[in-house]
Amino acid sequence: MNDVLKNIQARRSVRLFENEPIHRATLEVIIDAGNNAPSGMNTQGWRFVVVETPSVREKLTAAGIPKYKEWLETAPKQAQEARALIDSKVIDPVFYSAATAVFVVGHGMAKDMDCPMVCQNMMLAARSLGIGSCWIYMGQLALADDEVKNIIQIKDGETVYGPIIFGYPKDEAFPPAPPKNKPVIQWI
Ligand SMILES: Cc1cc2nc3c(=O)[nH]c(=O)nc-3n(C[C@H](O)[C@H](O)[C@H](O)COP(=O)(O)O)c2cc1C
Repeated sequence: MNDVLKNIQARRSVRLFENEPIHRATLEVIIDAGNNAPSGMNTQGWRFVVVETPSVREKLTAAGIPKYKEWLETAPKQAQEARALIDSKVIDPVFYSAATAVFVVGHGMAKDMDCPMVCQNMMLAARSLGIGSCWIYMGQLALADDEVKNIIQIKDGETVYGPIIFGYPKDEAFPPAPPKNKPVIQWI
């Protein structure tokens, strides 16, 4: 297996991080990988909002946790059980106290197809650098908060993808892979 394939196999959603910032030069490499994603008609309809300042991260967390708890109350039982396991290990069940959160802000005709590829490129680039990442849909719930909305500044016509959190994983090993289904393939 070549290094690219090994990296794809090795990527895992990481939720336990060291309290250690990521150098800006490293984040720039990760963002550049995202920025190299393909896009419909090469429209490149995205921008990046990088949150690393502790006081801003705290605001995101403070806004996200009550929304997350609301969501959890009515979530399906299976989701509640899965979340209970994760929540028992973390203080911050939304952003997982990660050093950095990157909001990929998409605009234009192909954003729904383009921006998830931006996110995946960043997560794979991070893994190749020994940095853990996770797509945090729950993080979008924080955007319902007026103060957070003001900080992230989403304009009309823009959509947020991710955010993707990044940090140095707490244990040396990345968590084991959750079970993956065999690919369903139709050969014609
Ligand atoms: C669109 C999307 C949204 C996600 N949102 C969350 C989230 O809010 N919180 C979380 O802990 N993990 C989130 N995840 C991570 C998934 O739980 C994870 O990808 C899945 O369990 C498979 O594990 P793996 O990434 O290690 O292969 C999200 C993943 C995707 C693709």
